Amino acid sequence: MKKKVLVVGGGGREHAIVDALSRSAQVGRIYCAPGNAGIGEQAVCVPLKDTDVEGLLQFAQANGVDLTVVGPEAALAAGIVDRFRAAGLKIFGHTQAATAIESSKDFAKRLMVAAGVPTASYQTFTDFDQAWAYVQAGPVPTVIKYDGLAAGKGVVVAQTLEEAEAALRDMLLDGRYGEGKVVIEEFLTGPEFSLMAFVSGRQVRPMVAAQDHKRAFDGDAGPNTGGMGAYTESFATGRSGLSFITDEEYDFAVSKILQPVADAMADAGTPLSGVLYGGLMKTPTGIKVIEFNARFGDPETEVVLPRLESDIYDVFEAAATGGTVPMLRWRDEAVLGVVMASKGYPGSYAKGVPITVVPEFAERICHMGTKRTDDGSLVTAGGRVLMVIAAAPTTAAASRRVYAAVAQVRCDNLFYRKDIAKYVL
Ligand code: AMP
Ligand code: GLY
Repeated sequence: MKKKVLVVGGGGREHAIVDALSRSAQVGRIYCAPGNAGIGEQAVCVPLKDTDVEGLLQFAQANGVDLTVVGPEAALAAGIVDRFRAAGLKIFGHTQAATAIESSKDFAKRLMVAAGVPTASYQTFTDFDQAWAYVQAGPVPTVIKYDGLAAGKGVVVAQTLEEAEAALRDMLLDGRYGEGKVVIEEFLTGPEFSLMAFVSGRQVRPMVAAQDHKRAFDGDAGPNTGGMGAYTESFATGRSGLSFITDEEYDFAVSKILQPVADAMADAGTPLSGVLYGGLMKTPTGIKVIEFNARFGDPETEVVLPRLESDIYDVFEAAATGGTVPMLRWRDEAVLGVVMASKGYPGSYAKGVPITVVPEFAERICHMGTKRTDDGSLVTAGGRVLMVIAAAPTTAAASRRVYAAVAQVRCDNLFYRKDIAKYVL
């Protein structure tokens, strides 16, 4: 009997997960809630919100779903994993308690310090006057992070004291995000990269590393976004998947960052059972943690999973049930993806703008925010709309292929960065 899998979420990350599952010989039907227009070509889309835990549970039970895979952090933070497991269903993702590694910066910082994991020095505040006095006594730039989930908007790198004060007012006095708690940390410098691992309790199976591009415009200008493009490189320059991360640095990140965090979470009685995402920085004094996420990164997943040769169903099932995750095999190739976003993103933008792709289009597209109108045409439905992805023996060749393909997507309201992977090209 082929397995039925439910993927929760509806962005580019979930499209990449659905795609990886569809390569598994064990997987039959794939459902995705809510999915999107692109996902709908590879899976059955189910019109349920990712945080509708009861609705999703009923759906999984009624349809004999063998395994559920959770994409977004909101669903994890809402306790979807706890609820499914209590009902006896298999689900890949962390419990609500373990999701604190992403949902509370203060929790993550305390855990890292206790486990000896390298990260920026910091202090936590709830009182505006104390926080402001601490900032004034220290150097700028300084980094101010809201403690809870803030949809990627909770981090301010303040270049001046004025900016720092405004951020503290916002987060501690104006109640813009709710209950006020901030982490103030040391400003670090160096290239950032993302290292994700499948984690089952104390077992850590690292993926190849990738680099995201968070700013909206070329040259890392403009506002922070969810990510405008990503790449991972072949093994020609080492095992990490990034030419600027040596084998020693990759091993350090796994053994001195991801492994101690998995162990500390297990020791605390809140073991991990999903993806641990390290947002890391190569600083002049070594690899340090900028943040953890409790889920696959978006857009990193869209470039990393195409390289996975192992059967992803086995990996998901092992982590979901506390079993032994198989060793992972990776294709030796570069994968590069460019996000096409609605003009105005990450601010306000129009929706419903038609998209056409030329018939001879030969690369892969992960849909991030699209839908089909009643007459079947493809239109924009989000800030990040599409990610065009190409694999090739070298990063330079993958880049050439991606940008040739991007030019074959026609839409009046999209923009994209022209310098993805420029740092290594
Ligand atoms: P985060 O939401 O935690 O990923 O932070 C968003 C961005 O802020 C990161 O990708 C970094 O570019 C920047 N950032 C966060 N923390 C620091 C830090 N301690 N030093 C320098 N930059 C930081
Ligand atoms: N690409 C960054 C993230 O998924 O948080």
